[in-house]
Amino acid sequence: MQRTPEPELMEAPHQVEAYASADFSASDAALLERFAGLCNQHACHAGREQVLIDLGCGPGNISERLAQAFPGSTVIGVDASSPMLAMARQRQASAMPPMGHVSYLQATLAQLVSPTTDSKPLPLGAASAVVSNSLLHHLHQPAQLWQATLRLAAPGALVLHRDLRRPDDPGAALALQDLHLGAAPEVLRRDYLASLHAAFTMTEVRQQLNDAGLHCLEVVEVNDRYLDVIGRLP
Ligand SMILES: C[S@@+](CC[C@H](N)C(=O)[O-])C[C@H]1O[C@@H](n2cnc3c(N)ncnc32)[C@H](O)[C@@H]1O
Repeated sequence: MQRTPEPELMEAPHQVEAYASADFSASDAALLERFAGLCNQHACHAGREQVLIDLGCGPGNISERLAQAFPGSTVIGVDASSPMLAMARQRQASAMPPMGHVSYLQATLAQLVSPTTDSKPLPLGAASAVVSNSLLHHLHQPAQLWQATLRLAAPGALVLHRDLRRPDDPGAALALQDLHLGAAPEVLRRDYLASLHAAFTMTEVRQQLNDAGLHCLEVVEVNDRYLDVIGRLP
């Protein structure tokens, strides 16, 4: 089926509230396991002075897990939605034990990669890892994710971007919605279906990487609905 883009930012209060209250613990844990596997494969051990960037961090679920799994690293979650970042900061403030070493930055990907912005919101070429979870399908200009990755990452940085894959037809999208969000609140079910329709196929993502010159990254299928863009920069 053809791609139907959805709004980039998640800003509606009821949408943010429902998203932040949902239980994504199993899929979040799976992403962290994948990232730990990537670290082991490349014998990189995130530690002190390492900067890990979580793009499109939303309510901070992945940033928090990175900070817990790699104590000593500095984790920076980036999102352009104020209500999402308010939620992330609120969770950080009430975390027990305290999370430490996580900070949140409000910026669009366009701002991160703009060649005309004099002072960049983040230092360029300094991140030991750039990750995202469920960001790519939101983007109207997906090339911005690959430009941001290239500009923020240090040489040898690890990269892991996980996102939904677009199903072949609307029926397959409905079946995934029922299977994975059968009992979820309606606002989440609706957003999930829209996200499946907005997602890219593996072929489209491979073309994006090719256009960005990111030949070092692979696109791999993950279970029935995700794809990973994974690898290490030269
Ligand atoms: C589906 S949520 C994913 C949140 C989180 N990463 C997770 O794993 O649950 C996507 C997030 O990306 C943010 N986003 C979308 N487009 C963006 C852009 N162009 N620049 C910055 N953030 C963006 C949205 O505001 C939203 O918070």
